Amino acid sequence: MQLAQRQLIFGRRRGRRLRSGQKVRIGELLPRFVLSIPQAGRLEPRAAFGAPKRPVWLEIGFGGGEHLAVQAECHPEISLIGCEVFEPGIARLLAHIERRHLDNIRIFADDARLMIAALRPSSIDRVFVLFPDPWPKRRHEKRRLVSRETLDALAAIMTDGAELRLATDDGNYLNWMLERVTEHPFFEWLARGPRDWRNRPKDWPPTRYEEKARAAGRTPTFLRLRRQFRK
Ligand SMILES: C[S@@+](CC[C@H](N)C(=O)[O-])C[C@H]1O[C@@H](n2cnc3c(N)ncnc32)[C@H](O)[C@@H]1O
Repeated sequence: MQLAQRQLIFGRRRGRRLRSGQKVRIGELLPRFVLSIPQAGRLEPRAAFGAPKRPVWLEIGFGGGEHLAVQAECHPEISLIGCEVFEPGIARLLAHIERRHLDNIRIFADDARLMIAALRPSSIDRVFVLFPDPWPKRRHEKRRLVSRETLDALAAIMTDGAELRLATDDGNYLNWMLERVTEHPFFEWLARGPRDWRNRPKDWPPTRYEEKARAAGRTPTFLRLRRQFRK
């Protein structure tokens, strides 16, 4: 993937000041869980976790990390990479890691697209992009994370049959996502009927953003796609 500039991240990296506990977590705990991309060559995630046989899942824009933490706790047999640029969110995930004693998460604290571009092809077994920023104004649509370019890059790093999970509460972004995933040659939408996109599957914990959306009266949609088998 062509990824020229860091200014491609349009969201915020910093909130108001970090609280002192958050500062300590970022300063002391983050280095233990941080995952960096190599200067040259591709990142082999299984080796990075020291677990050559464990499947690897990737969450892009994990927000406060509640979904990632629950998945990690429920699936100790999986290695999970979380990408997030917003520091208070990273500090929240670190608090979950600490409280739940999780050792199967690694954090990439930068633009997820840099990580996607660095990962070895066919190395990721599941991807989550949950409630990405909707960028509702027409002139901002190009900022949307779900794009043909991102889908191409994800198709390259995902294993055959790997699942991509998307969620949104924005009707316009939903149509945009559906157009792009259904016309993509390597993704197949797994829904059989409305229940499949209206109800969050049991193994899909809620996020803070979903809770806020429901509280504001917005209805979330859940999409499960399969990365087709390579010929
Ligand atoms: C609307 S929030 C949703 C957060 C979370 N997934 C949830 O459902 O609560 C979108 C998140 O994506 C993060 N984000 C946006 N662009 C990103 C990028 N290029 N790389 C990593 N994270 C990104 C933002 O910082 C923000 O925390």
